[in-house]
Amino acid sequence: MKLKNKTAVITGAGRGIGLAIAKKFAHEGARLVLNDINPESVEAAAEEISKAHRKAISVAGDVGDPTVAASIAERAVEAFEGIDILVNNAGVSEIVPFLETSQETWETTLRTNLTAAFLMCKAVIPTMLERGGGSIVNIGSVAGKQGTDQYTAYCASKAGLIGLTQSLAREFASRQIRINAICPGIVATPMWEEMAGDYATKKGIPPEEVAEYITGRIPLNRLCTVEDVAELALYLASDEAGYMTGQAISLTGGLVMT
Ligand SMILES: NC(=O)c1ccc[n+]([C@@H]2O[C@H](COP(=O)([O-])OP(=O)(O)OC[C@H]3O[C@@H](n4cnc5c(N)ncnc54)[C@H](O)[C@@H]3O)[C@@H](O)[C@H]2O)c1
Repeated sequence: MKLKNKTAVITGAGRGIGLAIAKKFAHEGARLVLNDINPESVEAAAEEISKAHRKAISVAGDVGDPTVAASIAERAVEAFEGIDILVNNAGVSEIVPFLETSQETWETTLRTNLTAAFLMCKAVIPTMLERGGGSIVNIGSVAGKQGTDQYTAYCASKAGLIGLTQSLAREFASRQIRINAICPGIVATPMWEEMAGDYATKKGIPPEEVAEYITGRIPLNRLCTVEDVAELALYLASDEAGYMTGQAISLTGGLVMT
């Protein structure tokens, strides 16, 4: 097992990519502290994983709130004496023309996708330093590498997350904390299902043609799955990636090659 005796904190773990990473890490022996803004979903996730005889606790709350971020780290230390892995996964996304983008959308997107990662890193890095190292995996997006239209707040938040990743990687490399980002293209999750209609409108195509439109442009000819992301997160979190830090890895089926 690649994460035996490691403790991992995962934000936004109630569904989608975060839940898949939680299950993958549990299967590989990790103890888990799961967060989500939706209490029902994160409690159900922790319960399901615990039933499979893995240790998992849940801490519900908005991870963009500094008191929630601090309490997630405190609960992890209380329950498992420290933290080895942090996955900053919680995120929100909205396709909307720039001139119709409200300040509220801008601020919520920046707060959830970027400020929350800053807060979680501040809360968790001290305990990693005490332990002599750790691994942080930020769930970014190719939208953080290459801007797309009608996606300003999201692109800005994910570009900022890459900056955070690279800066922290340089600052903490000598103390054995590695920080990397995964940058998927479109992943089949509830977030994508909720956005697909707006994507069709933006592209001027009927909703039923969205899947074909997208996969036709992806060299590997399919959408990314939550398992694809979880596999890469496992690698980056594990000691196998011991020489890797400061990277923002595209996971796009070949659509983006930088
Ligand atoms: N789905 C995609 O196409 C795609 C592509 C690239 C990157 N991503 C990124 O992957 C991550 C996960 O996305 P997903 O597709 O699984 O989304 P999702 O909406 O299916 O799941 C996100 C989870 O985060 C939780 N969440 C939202 N705001 C929160 C907050 N303030 N505090 C705590 N939890 C919060 C939600 O309740 C939800 O359970 C996000 O950062 C997203 O930007 C997704």
